[in-house]
Amino acid sequence: MDDKKLIELALAARENAYVPYSKFKVGAVVLTKDGQIFKGCNIESASFTPTICAERTALSKAVSEGHRNIDTIVVVGSLDRISFPCGVCRQFIREFGRDIRIISATSTDNYKVFTIEDLLPNSFGPEDLEHDNI
Ligand code: THU
Repeated sequence: MDDKKLIELALAARENAYVPYSKFKVGAVVLTKDGQIFKGCNIESASFTPTICAERTALSKAVSEGHRNIDTIVVVGSLDRISFPCGVCRQFIREFGRDIRIISATSTDNYKVFTIEDLLPNSFGPEDLEHDNI
């Protein structure tokens, strides 16, 4: 699926954002390497800490349905400039690969493409726990 179509889906996903506190709607889409799509939005909580970002909602849907081979994640915020995944989401995404494409968009005409390695260089990941000296 092409990037613009994915952005459209992320914009649609943003509509479901539950944001009574920040009023800042975010939408996300995960595209798996075998072409499956999972949408997500941010979901806030009155006690704040349990709030989940749109990217982690979408990625949790993919992984919990058995899809760990992630190709692309799109994020759309609510500003007139692109929004980037927060630090927690970067680490959460990085768990599933360093080459995952990240598209930050405001619309199908305004977006930038990165990899998670671009956004979280020199990261700690699952390979760092592959040792036998503990
Ligand atoms: N948020 C996301 O959904 N994704 C991000 O990468 C940054 C922040 C949400 C969390 C919260 O509901 C609102 O945006 C304001 O921080």
